[in-house]
Amino acid sequence: MDADLLQLVAQRFGTPCYVYDLDAVAERVARVRAAHPAAALLYAVKANPNGALLRSLAELGVGAEVITLGELERAVRAGIPGERLLVGGPGQDEALVRRAAKLRAGLVSLDSAGPWPLWRAHAPGATRFLVRVNPGLDPATHAHLATGAATSKFGLAPAAALELASRVAADGRLAGFHVHAGSMLRDPELVDAVGEVLAPLYAAVPGCTLLDLGGGFAVPDFPLEAYLERAAGLAERLRVELVLEPGRFLTADAGVLLTRVLYVKRDGPTAHLIADAGMADLLRPALYGAEHPIRVVGDAGAARSEDPSGRSFDVDGPLCENADRLGRARLLPGAGPGSLLAVERAGAYGFAMASNYASSLRPAEVVVRAGEPLLARRRERPEDLWRLELDAAG
Ligand code: LLP
Repeated sequence: MDADLLQLVAQRFGTPCYVYDLDAVAERVARVRAAHPAAALLYAVKANPNGALLRSLAELGVGAEVITLGELERAVRAGIPGERLLVGGPGQDEALVRRAAKLRAGLVSLDSAGPWPLWRAHAPGATRFLVRVNPGLDPATHAHLATGAATSKFGLAPAAALELASRVAADGRLAGFHVHAGSMLRDPELVDAVGEVLAPLYAAVPGCTLLDLGGGFAVPDFPLEAYLERAAGLAERLRVELVLEPGRFLTADAGVLLTRVLYVKRDGPTAHLIADAGMADLLRPALYGAEHPIRVVGDAGAARSEDPSGRSFDVDGPLCENADRLGRARLLPGAGPGSLLAVERAGAYGFAMASNYASSLRPAEVVVRAGEPLLARRRERPEDLWRLELDAAG
């Protein structure tokens, strides 16, 4: 997003503020579809559940992967029809099951045998089931595969998955298997490793029609076409159609967090920019050590390589914690009090993981369509903080 637009947004809606370019999201959708037109594309709502964003995905015919009642209701509210919903996650409880059943959700991913009796009791005939497999891929050889490692809580080991799949198949409701091998995956060869685990399962329960490979596509620079070529090859060998559940890939690069520099501190060994956004607004640096690119918006950004001081800054937030940081040791020439900063790649797991920690007010969210910015969610006000509190003292 260009500097003029971001400056206009900051001026009009204030900071901190998330800005999502819906046209960029649509381009990502188009890229996935061009690479594999037959795949069912289900957006992982957890990445960014903003209503305006979900509505624009619904208009594009994208479905949704949801894991909570809240995500389910958001997807429905955005206009995503039941048949394009996949309910996943390890903690499907009765409220979620009943509501999904009422909405005639098209697909359910069973993370274990636990919720099967509930689904069996409530789900209409139209709902079909995937069994989530824990591929037990060695995290030592596949460093990014934490959720696909045997020790993770997700899915069932192949033998147990087969046992559950046979029970579901006996009811005539099995669609296939599901593997979400991890997040921020980069290596297309992972598809082959997953395929080796799944092939015997598909051979053992005939009649499957789907293979859900989950999401997990890294940003930036995910080799999408190479990955989907392998995925398509696997689906062909198994004689099934693909289901994909990307979250981050569709939205991360389409979003920035705009924050204003309040103060600069240069007295100690480390120089600090104190910004008006921090870990309450964007948790990923504090929680995962994630490195989001940060740039100065406007003229100062262009002078980046001519920084006279050559000093780097920690970009810190307003809260009283060392972890309250957006970036470490960043070269941000020209940055000073009042500078506008854009924290990039913030369209996924940004606002979605924002909190009211320290009674911070969650930022505004703005969507941009055809270059036109529109407020999609207003900034929180102090009274929003206690709106749900009851006077328990009577
Ligand atoms: N499908 C399933 C079953 C998942 O568990 C996830 C993400 C996705 C799809 C979407 O994954 P994606 O394409 O967005 O990588 N909060 C972390 C990311 C956690 C992802 C959890 N599962 C972060 O900020 O990096």
